[in-house]
Amino acid sequence: MADWWKKSVVYQVYPRSFMDANGDGIGDLKGITQKLDYLAELGVDVIWLSPIYQSGGTDAGYDISDYYAIEQEFGTMADFDELLLEAHRRGLKIVMDLVVNHTSDKHAWFQESRMDRNNPKRDYYIWRDGHEGQMPNQMMGYFCEPAWEHDAKTDQYYMHLFTIGQPDLNWENKQMREEIYTMMNWWLQKGIDGFRMDVISCISKPAKAVASDGGQGMDCTNGPKVHAYLKEMHEKTFSNYDCITVGETPGVTPDIAVQYAGFDANELNMVFQFELMDVDSGPLGKWTTQRYDLLDVKRTITRWQEGLFNRAWNSLYLGNHDQPRCVSRWGDDSTPLYWEKSAKMLCTFLHMLQGTPYVYQGDELGMTNVRLDGLSEARDVEIFNAYRLYVEEQQVFTHDEMMANINARGRDNARTPMQWNDGKGAGFTQGDPWIKINENHTRINAQKQVGDPDSIFSYYKQVIHLRKAYDIITDGAYKILDAENPNVYTYAREDENAKLLVMCNFTAQEQSADHVAAYLGQGKYKRLIGNYANESSPTDALQAYEARVYLIEA
Ligand code: GLC
Ligand code: CA
Repeated sequence: MADWWKKSVVYQVYPRSFMDANGDGIGDLKGITQKLDYLAELGVDVIWLSPIYQSGGTDAGYDISDYYAIEQEFGTMADFDELLLEAHRRGLKIVMDLVVNHTSDKHAWFQESRMDRNNPKRDYYIWRDGHEGQMPNQMMGYFCEPAWEHDAKTDQYYMHLFTIGQPDLNWENKQMREEIYTMMNWWLQKGIDGFRMDVISCISKPAKAVASDGGQGMDCTNGPKVHAYLKEMHEKTFSNYDCITVGETPGVTPDIAVQYAGFDANELNMVFQFELMDVDSGPLGKWTTQRYDLLDVKRTITRWQEGLFNRAWNSLYLGNHDQPRCVSRWGDDSTPLYWEKSAKMLCTFLHMLQGTPYVYQGDELGMTNVRLDGLSEARDVEIFNAYRLYVEEQQVFTHDEMMANINARGRDNARTPMQWNDGKGAGFTQGDPWIKINENHTRINAQKQVGDPDSIFSYYKQVIHLRKAYDIITDGAYKILDAENPNVYTYAREDENAKLLVMCNFTAQEQSADHVAAYLGQGKYKRLIGNYANESSPTDALQAYEARVYLIEA
């Protein structure tokens, strides 16, 4: 089918925490292969693997030191080939994470680049003189650190938007770009089915960002040549393959997204936007315990659903390896009932929108945020850097306040091991896990849920199946029915033949559904799914975190 990725559901595997086959406490490729039947049972179509390449190890794999090698903690290239083969045998596609805004500082290119100013690889990275003995400019990177690091050997600074161990590649350099395309084609040739492209909106640096003028620098997203580079990449790589491409693109609005992922853009199939992830940000960005306002969610989603309609394709996500657990953040994990209902409600809400849904590992079980009792239990470099900046240097948060922020928003929430069963290692490992296992694995785990028709897992299965059965979920136009209601989110999807009515209660209180009467009119309706057992009519009040979907025939 053309554009098969529109009807697909993508499942993100975070290899380090998915399944440990050899008992060293770290998830691995053999472990993923062992669990392919579980993913096939869930019904997803595509597996996106967070990076499995050889890595410098400063940012959990997002600092690649060799694009052609598998990180030894994860296994070997033979293990990868087996995973690919076994996935394909089950009709599952494999998407690799492509991290080409930067490499590891241990990558051979950077090792050469830093040797001397005339090295042939010097220009593969972004080197600048200091400004009056200081950094070239005052730009800050994404991880609470300056974006420049002094390198004594050649007395210049290199740019790193992320950690010091992640120097940014210089996309102005044509030879570097060609080497990236060669590498991408090597993987595509091997048979992988596409790429998720890490911070791809950052690869072209605006002149002010790289100016050695002592200025403030500037935001590096959507730089002047990003579209030229992506069109070139498309022509030299993707255009020759039937693959799926999704760009991670901080800084995009719907109009900008159309430039990247418009149906005739010849760049990417879709992008991950951040506007939804930002609705609950505080004055210091993500480091807050503030809860979102549903009206902001509605405005954002509606802008994206309407803004891309017939122009580009949405990717739909409520969480990933950089975000807290979706049920804890957008739902309610405070009681077993609310936890179960809200996890199913969020699944309904997301999967009935227009776009390609992304399920993050464990969301199909309702995995929750973890509680870290102190920094010693944290593993993520972003957490350490933010703590240093906000508690130690700037003292804007006390230790307790920052731990509360970390427990609400830190990336380790998503990175605790998959909860396969209630045993000591949660069925994830026989050894000592690299990061703590959530204590609630005794209650929340796959063994309990697979095969239980009322479980969150079974609910995901049904919802994923519905997407296959009803084209209106893929193609119908989106229409919001209650834009001003702060508690319930009701939207419709419409095509020539039918309408789909999606009702989601985002609160623990009962909410009236009288407002859908006018929309229903005299149409005949059929309930497709819901997270409460009773048969209901659309205008019945919504229970705590209730979600219901109806098909209406005119
Ligand atoms: C992306 C990744 C994140 C990583 C960063 C730097 O945002 O999703 O995990 O730390 O890029 O590569
Ligand atoms: Ca292992």
